Amino acid sequence: MKPTKVLMVCLGNICRSPTAQGVFESKVAEAGLAHVIEVDSAGTSNWHVGEPPDRRSQQAALQRGYDLSAQRGRQVQRSDFEAFDYILAMDEANLRDLEDIKPANFDGHLGLFLDFMGEKGAEVPDPYHGGQAGFNHVLDLVENASEGLLLAIKAKHAE
Ligand code: 4NP
Repeated sequence: MKPTKVLMVCLGNICRSPTAQGVFESKVAEAGLAHVIEVDSAGTSNWHVGEPPDRRSQQAALQRGYDLSAQRGRQVQRSDFEAFDYILAMDEANLRDLEDIKPANFDGHLGLFLDFMGEKGAEVPDPYHGGQAGFNHVLDLVENASEGLLLAIKAKHAE
């Protein structure tokens, strides 16, 4: 069976989308689906290409058992629309940037990640310029939406 490929996207690819990747990967592994669901992340900017996730994101994630240390920043590319089935933006600005480069023939799902939390239009707030509480809030939202995304992918496969 062809794996379902999920790409998490934010601005810098050092805070929100690496967290989303790490959390969702962990939920997928717990569900025994690591062989059929692949997860990656990228940034709309090229500001942190090659860098590990922000130390504060890594620390907050590790406190809940998610190890983000092996991840490295990369910029989203037009070719990602050929490779991925779900491209999930952390906020509306990320989504607009993705819509600008989306090829006309993309037949996957492009949308906000938090739509899978059941809150249409909700965004994962950028924690970069704030304190540690912001990073924990990102984790709360991302854990919640990851559960919903996993259910949605499972339901699609059961069709
Ligand atoms: P992210 O957060 O988009 O969640 O990775 C940010 C990281 C870096 C910057 C902005 C947001 N920056 O301005 O460098």
